[in-house]
Amino acid sequence: MKDWIFTLLCAVLGAYFDEEGCDVENWIKFDKNGLKNDLETKLYGQHVAAEVILKTVTGFMENKNPKKPLVLSLHGWTGTGKTFVSQLIAENIYKKKMKSSFVHLFSVTTHFPHKAHIDKYKTQLQEWIRGNVSICPRSMFIFDGMDKMPLELIDSIKPYLDFSDNLDGVSYRQAIFIFLSNAGGKMINDVTMKFWRDGKEREEIQLKDLETVLSQSVFNNEDSGFWHTSLIDRHLVDFFVPFLPLEYKHVIQCGLGEMARQGFTPDNNVVKRMTDDLIFFPEEERVFSLQGCKLIPNKLRFYIP
Ligand SMILES: Nc1ncnc2c1ncn2[C@@H]1O[C@H](COP(=O)(O)OP(=O)(O)OP(=O)(O)O)[C@@H](O)[C@H]1O
Ligand SMILES: *[C@@H]1O[C@H](CO)[C@@H](O)[C@H](O)[C@H]1NC(C)=O
Ligand SMILES: [Mg+2]
Repeated sequence: MKDWIFTLLCAVLGAYFDEEGCDVENWIKFDKNGLKNDLETKLYGQHVAAEVILKTVTGFMENKNPKKPLVLSLHGWTGTGKTFVSQLIAENIYKKKMKSSFVHLFSVTTHFPHKAHIDKYKTQLQEWIRGNVSICPRSMFIFDGMDKMPLELIDSIKPYLDFSDNLDGVSYRQAIFIFLSNAGGKMINDVTMKFWRDGKEREEIQLKDLETVLSQSVFNNEDSGFWHTSLIDRHLVDFFVPFLPLEYKHVIQCGLGEMARQGFTPDNNVVKRMTDDLIFFPEEERVFSLQGCKLIPNKLRFYIP
C-alpha cells in the first residue's frame, strides 16, 4: 500500500515539475517511423548503415524480452555521420533526445585520458553503468573513440554486454551500447573506391561486402587486435556497421541542409563554392571527401555573401 502511494506521489510530482522519468508512456517512446524518416531524409549516402540501424534498433525496441543488450559498433572515416546517427537513434527513443539523463556519452580520450588511472576508470565506469541501468534499464551508452579505449577498460564492461539474467540483481538486457570509431575506415574507403573504379553503383555495396573486410582488417590488425579477442570472439557486438566515404554530391546535400539550419536560404552556388575548396580523393578524380561533412558547419559562413 505504501509503495503504491509513493509511486503515485513520485509520478504526480514528476509530472508537475516535468522531470524526466524512466517510463514508456511519457519519456521513452520509440518512434519507429521517426527513425525511418530521419535515416531516409537526414542521413546522406549511407544506405548500408541506414538499413542495419533501422532493422536492429527497431527489432530490439519492439522485442518485449531481449536476451541481451543491443551492441552496435559503428565504423568509418571521419565526418561520415557516425556521431550524427547515434544522435538520431537517441532522438527517436528519448523525448529529451541527447539531453536525456538516460543517454550517456563517453569520449574515450577525454573521459579516460591517462593510462596510469586505469584502475580508477574501471571501477568508475562499472559503477556508472550499473548505477544508471538500475535507475533506468532503458539506458543508452555511447563510447566515442572506441579504437582508443584501453583493452583493460573494454574488458571491464564486457559482462554488461553479454547474455545474462542479471548481474548483482541488475538486468542489462534493455540497454543500448553504441561504439564509435575510425577503425577500418581505410578499408571501407578502399572497397567503396573499388566499386566506383569498377563502374558499379554505390548502392550495390552490401553489408557482406564490407563485413569480411572489416573483420580482417580491423580485428586482425596489430593495433586493434583487442577487438578480436575481447569483443568478437564472444559475439558481444551484434553488428559492425560500416560508414562509406561521402561523395561530392553528399557534401553538397550536407551544405544545403546546414545552410537552412543556420537560418539562411539554401543556395547552390554558395554550397558549391565551399565544396570545391574541400579536399577530395583520389586527387585527380575528386570523388570522395576526405573530411566528409565534418567541416561544413564552420566553413559555410565564410562563403555566404
Ligand atoms: N552521412 C551524413 N549525412 C548527413 N549529414 C552528415 C553525414 N555525415 C556527416 N554529416 C554532418 O556532419 C557532421 C559531422 O559528422 P559526424 O560528427 O557524425 O561524423 P563522424 O563520422 O562521427 O566523424 P568522426 O569519426 O570524426 O567522429 C554531423 O553533425 C552532420 O551534420
Ligand atoms: C550515470 O552516469 C553518469 C555519467 O554519464 C555519472 O556521472 C553518474 O554518476 C551515473 N549515475 C549513477 C547513479 O551511477
Ligand atoms: Mg564522431
